[in-house]
Amino acid sequence: MTERESKILGKNVIYFPQIDSTNNYAKKIAQEGCEEGTVVIADLQTSGRGRLGRKWSSKNKKGILMSVVLKPEISIEELQIITLAASVAVVETVKELIGIGLGVKWPNDIILDGRKVCGILTEASMEMDKINFVVLGIGLNVWHEKEDFPDELEEKATSLSIYMKQKSQLNDIIIRRSRLIIRILYKLEELYDKINKGDLGSITTLWKKYSVTLGREVLISVKGEQHSGIAIDITNEGKLVVECTDGSRKEVLSGEIYVKGL
Ligand code: BTN
Repeated sequence: MTERESKILGKNVIYFPQIDSTNNYAKKIAQEGCEEGTVVIADLQTSGRGRLGRKWSSKNKKGILMSVVLKPEISIEELQIITLAASVAVVETVKELIGIGLGVKWPNDIILDGRKVCGILTEASMEMDKINFVVLGIGLNVWHEKEDFPDELEEKATSLSIYMKQKSQLNDIIIRRSRLIIRILYKLEELYDKINKGDLGSITTLWKKYSVTLGREVLISVKGEQHSGIAIDITNEGKLVVECTDGSRKEVLSGEIYVKGL
C-alpha cells in the first residue's frame, strides 16, 4: 500500500538519534523562523518533558517522540483544540493500522487498558496576545516492556506492544514507528485544516467519540479550590464542562483533573 502523505506537516523532518527534548529543539528553530509543519523526531530523549513540569521518560527506539511546529489561526483561548486534534489523530491511526481502540482522557492523555500510552504537550509562544507559534509534542509508547518504565509508573503506563502481547496478537502485526508517524501526521493535517477554517466543532465531536472522561466523576482544581462533580461535556474550544456536586457548572481550561477509576 502506498502511504498517503501530508503536504505541510512533515515536509521538513529533522531527526536526532538522541536529543534533550524534541519540544525544546522545535521551540528553538521556531523562534529562528522555521517553516510551519517542521517535524522534529528522536529515538531517545535525555530530558523529555511532560505537562506541569513532569518528566517524560523514554527508551532508545521504543517509542514515538516527535514535535510539530504549527502556526494556527486561533486565539489563545482555543489552544486546547490542538491537543484534542492530536489525540484524535493518534487514536484513529492506532485503530486503523493496528486495530487497537484507545481512549482520550482530558486534557492530554491517551489511555489503553486503563493506563497511559501517550501524552501530548502543547506549548505556545505568544506575541502581543496573539499566538506566534505552537509546538505540539507527542510521546507514544510503542515497544516498551513493563520494566522500561520507572517504578512509580509501572501501574500507570503501558505500551502498544505490552497490550498486544497480553492479547497474543504481536506475531500477527509488526508495528513500524515510521508508518505510525506518517499516518498520524496525515490525519493531523486533515484536522488542522478544519481548525484553520474555524471548524473546531468537528474536532470536539470526534474527541467525544473516543472520550473516557465524559460521564465520569472528576476532581478539578479551579483557582486553587477543589471541586468534585461529573464531566458532562467539552466546549467547542475544548474546555471541560463539569457539573459540580454543589450544583454549579464549571468550565475548566486546563490545569489538573483527576478522573476517578483511571
Ligand atoms: C504529558 O503527558 O504530560 C505530555 C508528554 C509529552 C511527551 C512528548 S515526547 C516528544 C515531546 N518532547 C518532549 O520533551 N515532550 C513531548
